[in-house]
Amino acid sequence: MVTNLSKISAPYLSITQVERAYSRYAHLYDVTFGKLFNEPRLIAVRWLDAQSAERILEVGVGTGISLPHYRKDCAITAIDVSNEMLEHSHLQVEKHALSHVTLENMDAGNMQFSDNSFDAVMAAYVITAVPDHKTVIQEMVRVCRPGGRIVFLNHFSNGNQFIGSIEKLASPLCRHLGFRTDLGLQAVLDGTTMQVIRTQRVTPLGLGNLVECVNRKAA
Ligand SMILES: C[S@@+](CC[C@H](N)C(=O)[O-])C[C@H]1O[C@@H](n2cnc3c(N)ncnc32)[C@H](O)[C@@H]1O
Repeated sequence: MVTNLSKISAPYLSITQVERAYSRYAHLYDVTFGKLFNEPRLIAVRWLDAQSAERILEVGVGTGISLPHYRKDCAITAIDVSNEMLEHSHLQVEKHALSHVTLENMDAGNMQFSDNSFDAVMAAYVITAVPDHKTVIQEMVRVCRPGGRIVFLNHFSNGNQFIGSIEKLASPLCRHLGFRTDLGLQAVLDGTTMQVIRTQRVTPLGLGNLVECVNRKAA
């Protein structure tokens, strides 16, 4: 049984599975996963180091917990594939009067933005929740300008064999919740123009990783 589970390969989740999972979960998200990982989201937004008038993209914004953390003199665009999650984001925008935030229902694997549309791109707990991380990464790099920043906040598998085998075992079981646990950072970076600038483990339990990259694609 272990062998069969660990052999499940990409695409790991279908977009329909992702949408369904987060639609079911949206009303509970803020009081569970949302609350537990609030502090690292705040740090991730700080790491973006947004400057006045910059264009920022948040991919897979979910219920919009991070939105009040962005400075108000930037233009924030935030996308998600789940309408139910986005409804909560709209409530955040209303509640905190975030007129600088634009929300869109959009697949991060097929973004409707021109190349180089953003100065910085952020994805918090998303890259392990998408059907095809390679396509999403390619899109993030495409819409981020040369020299722009890309910040990930996520659990990445760390190559430890023992922990890795548990992660592989757990990953298929997490599918119904809409995320996987067995993706390593190197697999995310491979073949891209992203260069890692800094990383940091974050709470709770040091299970998350903040990763800041600079987009080294040609101008
Ligand atoms: C674990 S939640 C993270 C939400 C939020 N970033 C946070 O920090 O709480 C993952 C989110 O990614 C969204 N998502 C998954 N695949 C996506 C895709 N291909 N395009 C856009 N959003 C996607 C899900 O709908 C969900 O809202």
